[in-house]
Amino acid sequence: MHVPLMDLKAEYAALKPQMIEAIDEALSSMQLVLGPNVQRLENSWAEMVGVEHAIGVGSGTDALIIALKALDIGPDDEVITIGWTFIATIEAIILVGARPVLVDIKPDDYCLDPELLEEAITPCTRALIPVHVYGHPADMAAINSVAERYSLHVIEDCAQAHLARYEGEAVGGLGDCGIFSFYMSKNLSGYGEGGMVTTSDDKLAEQIRLLRNHGYTSKYEHKIIGYNSRLDEIQAAILNVKLGKLEWGNQRRRELAAIYDEALADLPVATPTVAPPAEHVYHLYTIRSADRESLVAHLEQNDIGFATHYRSPAHLQPACRPYGLHLAELPVTEQAADEVLQLPIHPYLSEEQIEYAAETVRGFFG
Ligand SMILES: Cc1ncc(COP(=O)(O)O)c(C=O)c1O
Repeated sequence: MHVPLMDLKAEYAALKPQMIEAIDEALSSMQLVLGPNVQRLENSWAEMVGVEHAIGVGSGTDALIIALKALDIGPDDEVITIGWTFIATIEAIILVGARPVLVDIKPDDYCLDPELLEEAITPCTRALIPVHVYGHPADMAAINSVAERYSLHVIEDCAQAHLARYEGEAVGGLGDCGIFSFYMSKNLSGYGEGGMVTTSDDKLAEQIRLLRNHGYTSKYEHKIIGYNSRLDEIQAAILNVKLGKLEWGNQRRRELAAIYDEALADLPVATPTVAPPAEHVYHLYTIRSADRESLVAHLEQNDIGFATHYRSPAHLQPACRPYGLHLAELPVTEQAADEVLQLPIHPYLSEEQIEYAAETVRGFFG
């Protein structure tokens, strides 16, 4: 049996009639930029996350850049984040001219270790970017408490964690602002690029709205230098259809994760840990094995999809060398890079497929 890492074709087949109708409506209106679909998505997303403002932008990467710019972070500023993330988190800090400072992660949930924050703070530190890795919320109480003590901004990177909760509240509403990606593999995904910034700060929201659209205030008037980063109406129409399925999809991911948890419990692999107050949304189901490469080969032979995020962590990428990020001492991150492995998980995969993938992992260990 083939088990893909995710099944976007099955999702499309299930939603096709609504999708076609929504896209046709958007195209027939020919209102293609910042129109009613974007407005509807922004209103729904603000309500679901529990914030005053949700502002659609061109991608998750743009959302990070615009959030940093809106907080006036730039040259001479330092921003603390982790190396265990997609490169965009670090890239955005560099692109606004600031300096990324990296701290290590916790070995259990792969998120920023708040215990390491204080020693990384300098007089130049302006902001923290915790990443809710794989859909597991970072320890926001501890992170916010450090941020408050040192008057630092907090930008939550929620690109992998749509509607993950911490102390019962959705991520994206726990810091100064949150950023989301709607890239095709995400728990809420479009059929192209898209992103969102969430905040309850009115002034920040106004600045973000200006930045996403060339500083545009009214016809022929541009108040500040900004970006071309408008979420398009077709993506928003698609996202509005998928939004209605997000809670169901997250619940289904948790159910499929529970199948793995049980099937792999007695094997020499670490399965994901999650404990209150965190509520995981299993963007990825990550296990760890000291014999990762042989296990990967076994999955490949048996036609089971897998990924190894982050085999090469962001800070060790060639792009980051000129900034000296490879010199950061991140032993937990580097050990995880050698051991982690993601197994198939997606709302449109069947229980049978997940059981078969788990059985294949069991088969490896005899
Ligand atoms: C943690 C993290 N941050 C930021 C991004 C960037 O999002 P996008 O691909 O929409 O630009 C991603 C996307 O892969 C991500 O996983």
